[in-house]
Parts: sequence; structure tokens; C-alpha cells
Amino acid sequence: MMVFKAIIKYPSVRKYIFNRILNLFSLRFKKFKYKYEENLKFDTHVEKILKNISDNFKLNIRLKDPIRKIIEANPIDLEKKMNEKISIINDNLKYKIKTNFSDLENKTIDVLEKGYTLLDSFKISSEDRLSVITKSKKIDCYNQHCNYLAHETKEPWQIQKQKSYYASYDLEDIVKIDELCKIIFDPRICDLAYKTLGCIPTFYGLNLRWSFHTDGKLIGPQQFHRDIENLKCVNFIYNFTETNKGDGSHIYVQRTHNLNSLSKIFDVDKNLSIDPKYQIKNNMSPKDFFTLPFSGYGLNPLIEHYFKDNIKYILNDNIPILENNYGFHAADVPMNDRCVLLIHFALSGSLPSASGSKDIKRIPYNNVSQYFDDNLNNRYIYRNLVKF
Ligand SMILES: [Fe+2]
Repeated sequence: MMVFKAIIKYPSVRKYIFNRILNLFSLRFKKFKYKYEENLKFDTHVEKILKNISDNFKLNIRLKDPIRKIIEANPIDLEKKMNEKISIINDNLKYKIKTNFSDLENKTIDVLEKGYTLLDSFKISSEDRLSVITKSKKIDCYNQHCNYLAHETKEPWQIQKQKSYYASYDLEDIVKIDELCKIIFDPRICDLAYKTLGCIPTFYGLNLRWSFHTDGKLIGPQQFHRDIENLKCVNFIYNFTETNKGDGSHIYVQRTHNLNSLSKIFDVDKNLSIDPKYQIKNNMSPKDFFTLPFSGYGLNPLIEHYFKDNIKYILNDNIPILENNYGFHAADVPMNDRCVLLIHFALSGSLPSASGSKDIKRIPYNNVSQYFDDNLNNRYIYRNLVKF
């Protein structure tokens, strides 16, 4: 079985398992140090829509996250579930478009075909970019790469830089930065999420993250992996610091986001040239790349061998991207400190709860009312971020 061979042959897989167990232990026994929702409730209308969606979704059984990472579901089954869910959401709530951003049509096609797109027109001015950097350095932050994994209290940025690989922020602190709010609530992002997901999106997670320069070791999401928490999810990523290939950019293996696309780029002859020390199965088939142990974490040499020509270094020159994060991707190791904004949209749920954490305390609508309207569409989309 691939999982045993991966454990035996790849020290990085063994390290991943060790860290995973530590994380699970932390989630189970350590207290969260961020403010969280004790009992997440939405307004009555939204609750009703969510109940209808859940009652009608027949294929809603999924493996629990840690098990799912070992025995990933068959990509054909996943697609079937995904399509059923999209159609049920569409039956229950229509996305109302205020402005039709027709220039985003090509970007949508890019995401559907390649798995990602570059969003040149979303670039902000370099003054605004510097302002995000300067302001975020003055706000206390957590020592984790995701805010919902914080088991220690916030500390000044300078302290985290000295002792941690990462820093991340509370939602209520992120929205204090006006330049970030303008991006987060930009209706074009929502429109792209709608077009690429195929139904009204759910704001799934938000993070402002600093990655500090390390000794070049690959840690956590800096290894190739698929994000499999949700049936379908797209990430908007904006890098505010300067990045280039080999220095904190983002790596995406294009056309690996669904079985059909991956089958077209798969070269069966690569089975003959793989170094035996990295081989985890004789004659790998396209489907095997969706059931890799631990969603691919720790298997960089294997993925690089089969998909070398499709590895793209993106997120350079401060151009934001939108990616389907079911395709293989990784954060590049930064040679300089890197400040990045991540906005996740999915079919349902929230990233903290899918990862076994508690939902972060939402922001009162009044704090962000200048950026977007209070209507049913927005109450549904932003329900995990904003308390209306
Ligand atoms: Fe990821």
C-alpha cells in the first residue's frame, strides 16, 4: 500500500506524521487563546437556507479529516458529491450580481482549466502595500501560520519574528487595516468565487500571515499538498512583500486540480524513470495522485518527478492569484520575510471548524459596514466572518 511505502521511504512523511500527532494533541488538550464563538448562530433566514441545503444533500458523508488524509476519497466520488452540493445550493439561493465584471470571464476560464489565475487588475498601489506591511508590524499576533491554531497569547510582531516561523492575526485586527478591508470585501473576488465554484460562495476563512526567513527547511504547507477540507474551495492570495522564484512565491502544479486535467498531462513513461528510493507504487495512474497518503505532504520528490513541467512559480511581482486548492500547491520558502493575505471561499462550513478548531469570534457588521451592503446574499456569504 502507498501509505506504508511512503512512511518507510520518505523521512519527510515520518516528520509530517509526527507533527500531525502533535497538532492533534494540541487541538484535543490545549486551550485556544483566541476569542471564539461558543455557539455559532446565523440569522433565521440564513439558518433556514442552510438547513434546506443540508436536508437535501444525500451524499454528505465524508471521512474525518485525519483519516481522510490517509485514505483520501476517490476523486470520482468527490466530484459526484461536489456537483450534487453545488446544484442543491443553487436550488436554495441564487447569487445576485450587482455589477457584471465581464473582464473576469477569462480569469474564470483559467481557474477551471489550469487550476489558477493571475489577477493583475487586483493590484493595489505600492503605497497601500507598504501601509499594510507597516501597520501589520504594529499589531500583536499569534505564533502560528493560522489564527485558528493559536494556543498561545498574542505578542508583538518583533517578538514573533525572533522566535517563530510564522505570525498570524485575529480577524478583528485584520479589519482594522483599511487597505485590507478594501481587498477582502471587493465584490470582484466574490464574483470570481461564484463563477469558479458554480454557486453562491461561502466565505470560508481569512488570514493575514507573516512567514519569516528560515534556514531553508521545508515546513508544513511549504511542501506540496492538496487541501481537502472542503468539496470545493478557491483561495485568493495576495503577497504584499516583494517575492520572486525561489524567494517566497507560491508554487502551483497546474492542471492537477481534477482527474480529467491531470490525466491529460500525465506521462506514463515517468513510471520507468523514477528513482526506486522515491517509488511508492509500481505504475502510478492519474487516479493515484488523488489518493496519495496525507494529501501529498512530504512527497515532494515524487510530485516533482511526475509533474516537473507543470510546476509554476506564481504570486511574483505582487500580483494576486486565485487558485483551486485541490490542485497540488505549496508555499515557497521565503529568503526574506513575507506578508500574505489569504481569503478562502468554499461551498459551505468554515476552515477553523473543518480543521477541528473553534470558529473565531466574528466581527460586528457595524465595524465593516462601509465596505459592503447588508442584504441576504451577503448575510449568507460572510456569515462566518461578520455578525450581522
Ligand atoms: Fe494549502
